[in-house]
Amino acid sequence: MPLAHPSDSETAGRAEVSVNPVFTREPVQIPRNRMPDGELDAETAYQVVHDELMLDGNARLNLATFVTTWMEPQAQTLMAECADKNMIDKDEYPRTADLEQRCVRMLADLWHAVDPDHVTGCSTTGSSEACMLAGLALKRRWRHRRRAEGKPTDKPNLVMGINVQVCWEKFANYWDVEARLVPMEGSRYHLTAEEAVKYCDENTIGVVAVLGSTFDGSYEPVAEICTALDRLQRERGWDIPVHVDGASGAMIAPFCDPDLRWDFRLPRVASINTSGHKYGLVYPGVGWVLWRDADALPEDLVFRVNYLGGDMPTFALNFSRPGAQVVAQYYNFLRLGRQGYGRIQRYCREVASSLADRIAQLGPFRLITDGRQLPVLAFTLADGEAGYSVFDVSAALREQGWLVPAYTFPAHREDLAVLRIVVRNGFSHDLADLLLEDLERALPRLRKQERPQRGEECSSFSHGASRRS
Ligand SMILES: Cc1ncc(COP(=O)(O)O)c(C=O)c1O
Repeated sequence: MPLAHPSDSETAGRAEVSVNPVFTREPVQIPRNRMPDGELDAETAYQVVHDELMLDGNARLNLATFVTTWMEPQAQTLMAECADKNMIDKDEYPRTADLEQRCVRMLADLWHAVDPDHVTGCSTTGSSEACMLAGLALKRRWRHRRRAEGKPTDKPNLVMGINVQVCWEKFANYWDVEARLVPMEGSRYHLTAEEAVKYCDENTIGVVAVLGSTFDGSYEPVAEICTALDRLQRERGWDIPVHVDGASGAMIAPFCDPDLRWDFRLPRVASINTSGHKYGLVYPGVGWVLWRDADALPEDLVFRVNYLGGDMPTFALNFSRPGAQVVAQYYNFLRLGRQGYGRIQRYCREVASSLADRIAQLGPFRLITDGRQLPVLAFTLADGEAGYSVFDVSAALREQGWLVPAYTFPAHREDLAVLRIVVRNGFSHDLADLLLEDLERALPRLRKQERPQRGEECSSFSHGASRRS
């Protein structure tokens, strides 16, 4: 299904791709939307595609994305070497398959699994697929339990904050689970223990706790949520597991907040996902999902495929996918170790928190988060700043090449519009200085405006938080 309608593009109306005559020995005609009849030489084809892509934003200045935009040349070489390996052909590529399992065990150890060598887990294309698998396991476990008790299984629900990433709404929609989204209220921008338990009942398959929130980078209080659910179990008998969506935070907290209890140290945490391609520092797309033990992943969800002579247990939504990202993840784990990841993640947090402090000192902004959980800062206009909007600030920064998204919060804080900066590996104090200079330079012009020029309708930004397009 084409998500961008052809008429959306200004150039789509033209029938041909125009080619600089210097690139070709003879004039060529390249149809834009039909497969050409003839062939092109490789150099011309490369140049045409390369030139078209030049107009994409500069990935390093993209402060909207959580996804890795820089890897070492050695990692890139390994990825190119593995681009032709299909991850699913475990029988043909047993070494790649083994590296995947080593990564699972390393993550299990990092996340304090009771028995890291025998934990159940797999790689995925990203956190979205990982969350779908984790959600399916929650639903299946609940269904088994209910059936064993002779109780109906037609009304499962999943409790989560309205700040969850859109993959959770997709999960609920695709697999007929009621999404119980706890709205924001006042200055509470994510799920709390008190609210979570209010939304649970005997049909709750699980509670999703996010580490940290896509909207502002804040950590949800996983341990408090678990304690509240322990109490609920004592009072009502409902044993409700927790899934931690650590898309970003599961690769930050182990290094920056080693004493924070959010992982398998909490007995109620049944499963955890992360995006290898976010703070796992790998190019897209790789994700990971781990279950605390075999009981947390019902056996009847696992397919044992006799594939090309091998017995292969799989639990995945996709079949074929490249092995390159998994190999690159293993490379990073070897190359950086705990020390290297720690150095990078702490540096990101240091840049984020110092940038946040300096933005707060400018005057016209009020911080929502200050980069001291995820290395992410969200800020809005201070009271009294009237003639411009956060969308105008985003547009002014874009003139200088910076991609800093502006967006409104969901129910019940649709009135709150913020800017968000994600600090990733490669965004240095120097780049932060330059960003701040550009922001300061834009402010006098913005503050002279009589009224805001842009509102939410001008924001093309989609950060995948819970809203549908
Ligand atoms: C909390 C959270 N969960 C899930 C996702 C989806 O991750 P992916 O892009 O790896 O599918 C994101 C992406 O930003 C996220 O922030």
